[in-house]
Amino acid sequence: MGPSAGCREWSLSAGGRQTSVRLGRGLLREGARVFGGSPVCVADARAERHVREAWSAAGGAPDRLFLLEGGEGIKTWEEAGRLCGRIVRAGIDRRTRLVAAGGGTIGDLAGFCAAVLLRGIPLVQIPTTLTAQIDSALGGKVALNLPEGKNLVGAFHPPESVWIDPTCLDTLDAAALRQGWAEILKAALLGDPELWALLESGSVDPHRPPSEEVMACVIEVKLRRVQADPFDTGVRRELNLGHTLGHALEGATRWELSHGDAVAIGIVFALELAQARGVLRDLTLSARARTLLATFGLPVVPPQADPAALEEILSRDKKGMGGRLTWILPVRPGEVAVVGGDPGRDREVLGRFLGRV
Ligand SMILES: NC(=O)c1ccc[n+]([C@@H]2O[C@H](COP(=O)([O-])OP(=O)(O)OC[C@H]3O[C@@H](n4cnc5c(N)ncnc54)[C@H](O)[C@@H]3O)[C@@H](O)[C@H]2O)c1
Ligand SMILES: [Zn+2]
Repeated sequence: MGPSAGCREWSLSAGGRQTSVRLGRGLLREGARVFGGSPVCVADARAERHVREAWSAAGGAPDRLFLLEGGEGIKTWEEAGRLCGRIVRAGIDRRTRLVAAGGGTIGDLAGFCAAVLLRGIPLVQIPTTLTAQIDSALGGKVALNLPEGKNLVGAFHPPESVWIDPTCLDTLDAAALRQGWAEILKAALLGDPELWALLESGSVDPHRPPSEEVMACVIEVKLRRVQADPFDTGVRRELNLGHTLGHALEGATRWELSHGDAVAIGIVFALELAQARGVLRDLTLSARARTLLATFGLPVVPPQADPAALEEILSRDKKGMGGRLTWILPVRPGEVAVVGGDPGRDREVLGRFLGRV
C-alpha cells in the first residue's frame, strides 16, 4: 500500500479484495473512468451538480441515476428494500457496478444494497462530504440503522474504487465541514504527530475544507489500519478514539448531538481518562487538544445527558466487546494505547467529566 509517485493514489488489498483510492481536484470530470461500463448510480440530491456532470461525461443513462435526500433517516431496511427494487428494475447482473455518490449515509445505504443484491455486486464510492472523503468511504464497512441503535445491521463490502474529488466540498455547509474536521483531528491525534503539529501551528484555516496534503495524511492513517486489520478486530480499533463515549452521547441525546461533535467531546474525555489511568505521557496535551478542538468550532464540554442512559449504552457496547469496555487512550500525539475498562475508576472519571457542564 502507498501513494503512487506523481498522483495521490493508493492500492489497498484487504479482506481478499483490491481497492484503488484516488484523490484529486477535478477527478470526477474523468467521468467514464470513474463509472466504467453501464453502472447504476445512487446519488445524494445535494451533490447532484457534481455527480450529474460526471454521469453525463460518462454517457450514463438518465434512468439509471437515482437521486435521494441523504441523511441519517435513509439508513433503514425500508429504504434499502425500496432502493434494491428500483435497482433491480433498472436491469442488473452480477457484474453491474453500483456507484454510491454522496455522504456517509448514501455510501452506507447504497453500499449495503451492493453487498446484498444478487449476493454482492461491485461497489464504487464517490464520497461528496468531508466525513465520507476521509473516513466512511474507506474501509469497506456498509450499514443500516435499527430503532435499537446506529449501524447495527451491516456488512464488509469493500469498494472496487474510491474517487475523492475535493471540489465536491465547495458546496458543503459549515456544520458538515466541522463534522469532518473532528475526524481529521482524531486521526492526527491517534496516528500522525506531524499533522497534529501542523494543526496546532495555526497555519490551517478551520473554516475551509482541508488541503489535499492534509486529506492524504488522514486517508493514510485510516488505510494503514484497514490494510492491517480489514475486519476490525485489532489495530483498526485505534480509529475509535473518542467514539466510545461519543456514541453513547449521541444515543443519550437521541442523536441531537452530531457525530463529529460527539467525537470531539469523546476525545476530551479520553484524554482525561488517559491522565487518570497513567497512560498519558504528554501532560500538556489535554489542555492543548481542548484549545485546538475549540478553534475548529467543536464542543469540548458534554451536553446535559442522562447518566443512566449513558451507562446503559456503554454497557451495551461492553457486551459487544465480550464483557469488557475497551478505551482508546492518547499517550502522546500520534500514539494511543488500547486499554481495558476499569469500571470503578472509569465511572468516577466519567462522573467528574459530566459534572462539569
Ligand atoms: N461505513 C463507515 O465506515 C462509516 C464511517 C464513518 C461514518 N459512517 C456513517 O456516515 C454517516 C455520516 O456521514 P456524513 O456526515 O457524510 O452524512 P450525510 O450523508 O448525512 O451528509 C451530510 C449532509 O451533507 C449533504 N451533502 C452530501 N454531499 C454534499 C455536497 N457535496 N454538498 C452539499 N451537501 C452535501 C447531505 O445531503 C447531508 O444533508 C453516518 O451515517 C455514519 O454512521 C460510516
Ligand atoms: Zn466517526
